[in-house]
Order: sequence, then structure tokens, then C-alpha cells
Amino acid sequence: MEKVLEIIKLEEERQRNTLMMIPSENYASASVRSAVGSMLSNKYSEGYSGRRYYQGNKFIDEIETLAIDRAKKLFKVEHVNVQPYSGSPANSEVLFALCNPGDTIMGLELASGGHLTHGQPNITFSGKYFRSVQFGLDEKGLLDYKKIAGLAKREKPKLMIIGTTAYPLAFDWKKFGEIADSVGAWLVADISHVSGLVIAGAYPSPVLYVHVVTTTTHKTLRGPRGAMIMVTKKGLKKDAELSTKIDKAVFPGMQGGPHNNTTAGIAVALGEASTMGFKSYGKQIVKNAKVLAKELTSGGLNLVAGGTECHLIVIDLRAEKLSGNVVAEALEVAGIVVNRNSVPNDPMPPFYPSGIRLGTPAITTRGMKEPEMKQIAKWILDVVGYVAPYKLPENPETRNTFMKGFKEKIRTDKKLLGIAEDVKKLCLKFPIN
Ligand SMILES: Cc1ncc(COP(=O)(O)O)c(C=O)c1O
Repeated sequence: MEKVLEIIKLEEERQRNTLMMIPSENYASASVRSAVGSMLSNKYSEGYSGRRYYQGNKFIDEIETLAIDRAKKLFKVEHVNVQPYSGSPANSEVLFALCNPGDTIMGLELASGGHLTHGQPNITFSGKYFRSVQFGLDEKGLLDYKKIAGLAKREKPKLMIIGTTAYPLAFDWKKFGEIADSVGAWLVADISHVSGLVIAGAYPSPVLYVHVVTTTTHKTLRGPRGAMIMVTKKGLKKDAELSTKIDKAVFPGMQGGPHNNTTAGIAVALGEASTMGFKSYGKQIVKNAKVLAKELTSGGLNLVAGGTECHLIVIDLRAEKLSGNVVAEALEVAGIVVNRNSVPNDPMPPFYPSGIRLGTPAITTRGMKEPEMKQIAKWILDVVGYVAPYKLPENPETRNTFMKGFKEKIRTDKKLLGIAEDVKKLCLKFPIN
């Protein structure tokens, strides 16, 4: 067998036998995967439906139109572009459509849960080509809307891009709308993490309050790796040409031919998301996260913002004097795959942060519910307690060596591998298709 296909089989096995608890990950359905692996990837289709630069696009047009119509109906928006290659290009395309180099943009800083593309200074397109103003969270890990309004008044951003990868509470989109309107700024909601929850009615929709919405399609939405840019009624009221500006920024502004196989996968995922079953699925994701949060808190762990109102939880390990790296590595050996994450006002650098981020979308896709969340919380608490003696050295220069030794030591640890066996048994009861 081709070596790559052999490795893919191993990865499939890993995904089946462990708990995928990285909140940005999910299992796409077999139909979505079949669309993505289809012959549609053979076709070139630069342009948009009915206005292509290549012949032979009859069926591609049909599929792209279907994806757009489904997204318009589900999100209640006026215009949709389904061609962005992924979330980062989608955000860059919106910035490119609405701002000039040097204009001021505003967003939540990366360390507080914002995304790189929301203006992370120095190292990203959004932070290098624009004047980026960023805000963080308060000591409790909450957004301070008054402070954000003050910053907007002072800095007068041309565009605010608001979204998160790690904020566990629901955004007050109305307040963000008022702040943006008070300074005449464009307001872009990046709902990449929560778009599936928005469709399910399990998380507030920003559509009434913002001009543009971006989302990846591979997280709670359960689609392929891709993204969409959506224009709202409010957006068209601000600028009747907004949809055209967005479309031109995507193609030819930043991209060439669309990934038609991905477009088909998005169309399938949107079809799946329009069912009643998806609504209960989205609600169950949040219910599961709340139960997990409660159990972890009862077990003595501190959570950022005290809990969750969505699909994700951030554990603050500062009280335990533990590093996110140590806990994440140990959990992986135990079959629970999460990621280390900064906590608000983290004294540690991003590579060695003090938190763990975990979420429930993928395990909910498997059909797990409240009883399984209680069991998973027990395992997590067990692992955190077990690795408590392993403190990251204060001296930054010895940290890499410490982590290397720690990883080697736990690779064959009986206790952690024992949990991994139990995790596998649980996974077998909740197969993925
Ligand atoms: C809020 C948010 N925006 C944008 C992105 C970027 O998406 P991608 O990784 O597909 O470029 C992500 C990805 O994690 C995200 O969470």
C-alpha cells in the first residue's frame, strides 16, 4: 500500500480510539468527506456562478449556488461567498476589501482568545499592514465592554473584527454593534468556532448587529476545511456595494480558482445543519460543556470566566502551579487530546502557557452525553492530580530539556496508559462513521 495511505489509516485509528477534545476540531460526516474526495477537485472554475473564466462549469455552478442558498437561509444573511480557502484567508479578504494599508483595525488580542488574523502585531498580515489596536480581558477573564467602548472612541478604528478561539462566554453582539456604530466602524463577527451553535440556536447570532460575518466551516459546523464570508442587511445598508467589494477581494483580489470539492463539502454540511437533528446536536454540545465545566470545578480546578456558555472550557492551572504543556502531554498519553492555552494575563509565555483548552463538539458528534462528560471529567482530574509533582523549571533555558525528559518518562506510564485503555473502551461504544 502507498505509504501515505498507510499513515492515514493510523491517523484514522487515532481519531477513533481517543477523545478529540480540541474545541476547533470535529468529525465531518462520511458524505462531507466523500464530497471533498470527489472528482470536483479536478476542475478549474475561476470566477463565480454564471461568470466563470473556464468552460465546463455547469455542475460546479449548481453546487456553488446550492451552498450559497443554504448558507443564506441558515444564517439569515443577504449575500454569501463560499470560496475562501480557509478562515485566515477569509478574514484577510474582508480586511483587504474594507481597509487600506495603515488604517486602524481593532480586535481581541491573541493571548485573550482572539485570532492571529484579528490584528496580532508584527507577525501577521493583519498586524503588519494595518495599525492594529487590541484589547484583552479583565482579571476574571471577562470582556469589559465599557473599556472597549472607550478604546474605540480614542482610537477610531475603521474596522472592528470580533471573534474568539478561547473565550468561554457568549459575546454581547448588540453591545459590540453599538460600540462600532458610535465610531462609524465596520463590524465583522468571526464566528468560526461557534457557527454550528448559532445555527442550532445554542449561541447568540451576530447577524442583526454586524455588517459582515466570517466563519470557518470545519469546526462546530462539521464541514470540510474551508470558510465563508457573509454580508448582512445592516452591512448592505452601510454600503450597497459591500457584497461586490467582498467578492472582488476574494477573487481576483487574493485567490485564484475555488476548491470545488470543498464547496461541495460545505454544501453537504449546510444541508446536514438544516435538520432538526443538528439543532439538538448543537444544544447538546453546550449542555455537555456545561456538565464538564461543573464537574471540573467541583473537582477543584479553576476555569477561566468561571465556566462556559458555549462549546469550550479553559482550565487555569496557575493555582496548581502546573504548566499547560505538562498536563496536555499527560492527557494525550491517557487518550484525551486537548491543547495548552494561555489564560488571561498569563505570566508565562505562549509556548509554555498556564492553561488547557478543551471542548465538546467532536465527542458530542460521537453521541456522548452527560454521563460520559462526568466520566471524562474524572479522568482529567485524575491526570491533573497525578502529574502535580512535575513543575516546569523556572529557568527558561532548561524547560525544553525538562519537557523532553517528562515526555519520555510518561510514554510508558502504567497509570496513564491504563486510562487510555478505558478511554478506548468508551470510544468503541460511540463509533464514528
Ligand atoms: C476565530 C477563528 N478565526 C479564524 C481562524 C482561522 O482559520 P484557519 O485555521 O482555517 O485559517 C480560526 C482557526 O482556528 C479561528 O478559530
